[in-house]
Amino acid sequence: MSRTALLTGGAGYIGSHTAVVLLEAGWSVVIVDNLANSSPVAVERVAELAPGDLTFHQVDIRDTDALTKVFAERDIDAVVHFAGLKAVGESVEKPLEYHDINVGGTVSLLQAMRGAGVRDLVFSSSCTVYGDPSETPVTESARLGPTTNPYGRSKLYIEEMLRDLPVSEPGAWRIVNLRYFNPVGAHPSGRIGEDPDGIPNNLMPYVMQVAVGRLERIGVFGGDYDTADGTCIRDYIHVVDLAEGHLAALERLPTIDGCIAVNLGTGQGYSVLDVIRAASKAVGRELPYEIVDRRAGDITAVWSNPTHAREVLGWEATRGIEEMVADHWRWQSQNPNGYSS
Ligand code: UD1
Repeated sequence: MSRTALLTGGAGYIGSHTAVVLLEAGWSVVIVDNLANSSPVAVERVAELAPGDLTFHQVDIRDTDALTKVFAERDIDAVVHFAGLKAVGESVEKPLEYHDINVGGTVSLLQAMRGAGVRDLVFSSSCTVYGDPSETPVTESARLGPTTNPYGRSKLYIEEMLRDLPVSEPGAWRIVNLRYFNPVGAHPSGRIGEDPDGIPNNLMPYVMQVAVGRLERIGVFGGDYDTADGTCIRDYIHVVDLAEGHLAALERLPTIDGCIAVNLGTGQGYSVLDVIRAASKAVGRELPYEIVDRRAGDITAVWSNPTHAREVLGWEATRGIEEMVADHWRWQSQNPNGYSS
């Protein structure tokens, strides 16, 4: 019998890719999204890419009553919780919005889940919970925090709150905190991808908007870091690999005891200049860039130790940097203005 997953934020970048992977694996998918930072077109395209049992509700996760109605309509086996705000700079300017939507929204979701008797959860966490990591590659047992901004704190608070639940109701909750490294790329069809509002904060969407002519040149934040080429190193992971990590987590949930954390990364670090070089190759021309000042709060280098994911989820990333940039470019070139193209 088909199992049903409820995806909060399922119209967003990672949520939409996960919806496709789940539908292809035979899951029924219920998307809940307030469309604050996502498009209904993404949901239409998920349905086009992966025909199956998909329903959509325009609901804000802070509205516990509306969530409760969704849970009452369907027999939900597990929840994948993506919904939330994710811009680091904006979180510094609007900390209360971040705590309201990310932390408060999660409390509301958990109350609706408990009311419906659903206690299986996969949560979108982030490597940001490690702050400036005490070790690289980072394992899940590395020190948590201190986090460097309200966005990061909201993720850490949620993780801590989730760890309290199995203590309060032993044996009831099964929770996996997935700590993403740097998600990039798009579905290979080019039909769904990342569609940030305004000027992108993150590297890959910025690079791709330069490639498509929406922005003039890439500003590389700092060329004097203590790395081989002087630019920061990150663990970029293809969004379809990430989506498959969610499927693996959902499939393993019944064997999970309490609340665990798992890194989702490739275990391979690339510098900013490595990314620009790979993107230039995919696009077929040199993408213009200049080294500018460091961005406040950036960490020199962070990449994951992916061993735990392999052991606990039986999952590992298989797509390399060439595939990440090629797929991201296909999406961006076919949809130069994102979903409003
Ligand atoms: C940040 C957050 C992370 C969050 C992620 C996605 C921190 C420490 N990191 O990751 O939690 O999940 O965004 O929202 O809070 N860069 C440039 N030029 C640009 C943009 C970026 O050189 O125009 C560089 C950055 O300095 C960095 C790398 O590219 O070295 C990646 O940056 P970005 O894509 O913003 O991700 P992170 O800062 O690693």
